[in-house]
Amino acid sequence: MAILITGGAGYIGTHTAVELLNSGYDIIIADNFSNSTVTAIQRVEQITDTKIQFYEADIRRYTDLTAIFQNNTIEAVIHFAGLKSVNESITHPVEYYDNNISGTINLCKVMQEFSVKKFIFSSSAVVYGDPETVPITEDFPVSTSNPYGQSKLMTEQILHDIFISDNEWQIALLRYFNPVGAHKSGLIGESPNGVPNNLMPYISQVAVGKLEKLHVFGGDYDTRDGTCIRDFIHVVDLAKGHVKALDYFDTQKKGEVLTLNLGTGTGYTVLELIHTFQKVSGKNIDYDIVERRPGDIVVSYAAANLAEKILAWKTEHNLEDMCRDTWNWQSKNPSGYDT
Ligand code: NAD
Ligand code: WQD
Repeated sequence: MAILITGGAGYIGTHTAVELLNSGYDIIIADNFSNSTVTAIQRVEQITDTKIQFYEADIRRYTDLTAIFQNNTIEAVIHFAGLKSVNESITHPVEYYDNNISGTINLCKVMQEFSVKKFIFSSSAVVYGDPETVPITEDFPVSTSNPYGQSKLMTEQILHDIFISDNEWQIALLRYFNPVGAHKSGLIGESPNGVPNNLMPYISQVAVGKLEKLHVFGGDYDTRDGTCIRDFIHVVDLAKGHVKALDYFDTQKKGEVLTLNLGTGTGYTVLELIHTFQKVSGKNIDYDIVERRPGDIVVSYAAANLAEKILAWKTEHNLEDMCRDTWNWQSKNPSGYDT
């Protein structure tokens, strides 16, 4: 019995693979390597001293998936595979809906055929749009203004509908806040293609000298230092949330759709993250404050108590840990997996 990890060669997938193996689960990875490399899987093998079975497979291709389900006994699927840039989704909506929606429907079709009914889905805080208040609880209204966010909302809806049609399904919709950090070994981490869109990889690439200067988008927001606030969560804590969700389903006799935030419950400003990174890395992060980035949410952080209560899961890493582990990864792998 194995757990199939789609997108398992990616940033969150590799960290989840490590935590699953550490907890005694057997895993199989399926990835089309559109945003990752085989090296990442080899690094997971190195960390866990385990040979990993993986398939170069595209979730949009029916035959790719049936081959995996025919040749293995799959117990549950953790579904990371997909595209994740908000900006790119606006310029390439068809690609985003194809990967994130058609791909997921194809996966669900094959799961139905093989009667695999345990599903953990990577949703996102993006589904909350611009929240009226914080902390954000799971019952907040959802809304989104871009195809990436739509794809997450639509997938959540599709999974709800599957459950309505067959209430044996155990489905977790895990809404991640801002994953950062890396495994403490420094062997796996986030390795974006090109210039990063997200804050933490941008900071770490400035620190390592790959990028000259960070542009902080907006310094005049109504927050304690004028910059936006986010709920940064260490990717290892996030990964452990997935293991806890699987453990939880194993103890339940019935199907359900579980919707949970995975965040720390604490928000930090952009400047607080920069200063913490400087402190733990000993590197100066050159930055200037520029125009606001259109569409940015001012303050976003999770109410994390529901996941804590249901999954018996709690984040263990603080902001310093997140910066230290990011720097450890980045300094050991200045060009990510291309090193
Ligand atoms: P990632 O790009 O590092 O990993 C995704 C993996 O999926 C990659 O290895 C990629 O090659 C693979 N992939 C993409 N399309 C595929 C396809 N059609 N078939 C097979 N494999 C495919 O991204 P990540 O940061 O690890 O994110 C994983 C999931 O979590 C995504 O669904 C993302 O939307 C979601 N998420 C990420 C964040 C974040 O900030 N990183 C936040 C919220 C939600
Ligand atoms: C954080 C803060 C920026 C870069 C995005 C997606 C969301 C989710 C996580 C997947 C903001 C500021 C950033 C830079 C900066 N992904 N910033 N200079 O905006 O919370 O969310 O990633 O689901 O869907 O929308 O994350 O890291 O892009 O930005 O000043 O070069 O850092 O303005 O305030 P965000 P982010």
